[in-house]
Amino acid sequence: MAVASLHVSTHPLVLQRLCILRDVATPPPLFRAAVADLAMLLAIEATADLPLTETSVTTPMGIARGSALVQRIALVPILRAGLGMVESTLRLLPNAQVWHLGAYRDHASLQPVMYYNHLPQHPELDLCLVLDPMLATGGSAVAAVDALRSHGIPQIKFIGLIGAPEGVHTLATAHPDVPIHLAALDEHLTPPPLLADDPPEGYIVPGLGDAGDRQFGTG
Ligand code: PRP
Ligand code: URA
Repeated sequence: MAVASLHVSTHPLVLQRLCILRDVATPPPLFRAAVADLAMLLAIEATADLPLTETSVTTPMGIARGSALVQRIALVPILRAGLGMVESTLRLLPNAQVWHLGAYRDHASLQPVMYYNHLPQHPELDLCLVLDPMLATGGSAVAAVDALRSHGIPQIKFIGLIGAPEGVHTLATAHPDVPIHLAALDEHLTPPPLLADDPPEGYIVPGLGDAGDRQFGTG
């Protein structure tokens, strides 16, 4: 899939953690640990182009030249499932703000329902990293980026774990300037169920199931 804004990791540690995440037998504690590790690994890749300014630091032996980050950054997890990506990313960017957006998918229409949006009144910020493990139809990610754009945020990146082609296409079309960082690009979304035992519509295949339920043990 040729989408200029899409970056799919090939890091061995990412690929190994992905297997843990996908495994139906992985219990919530190990699932949460894999989400956290993957978020950190992908955040390292997503921040590889952050601008730096020169600085100096006094060591016990003298003065060393060094570098400092210049951008003011916020992490924006999409509740619920994005919450599990915050703590490890914050370890990389301890001075980042954390803003929360709440969205769930309506099961019938698959449209995102935004139920929480309490962004700061006067944001003084250069970059938002939107965190959400799943990019399925792309509706939730587009709604989050729309909200940040209308809040005047100049630069936005999306960090997810697993994406479907449908979601990548939707986000990249709506916001071509938003880089999309994923651990995996999967095959497709589940169609509307025909039989009682069929899975619900709009889940990523092969995916990992429901990222929120698997993290928080509510499945
Ligand atoms: C999941 C996921 C995304 C959304 C992706 O959240 O965390 O936010 O679905 O689907 P989309 O690309 O089709 O919009 P969900 O609606 O299950 O809510 P939850 O995080 O509270 O479980
Ligand atoms: N949300 C999830 O948690 N999983 C999917 O596969 C799609 C949306």
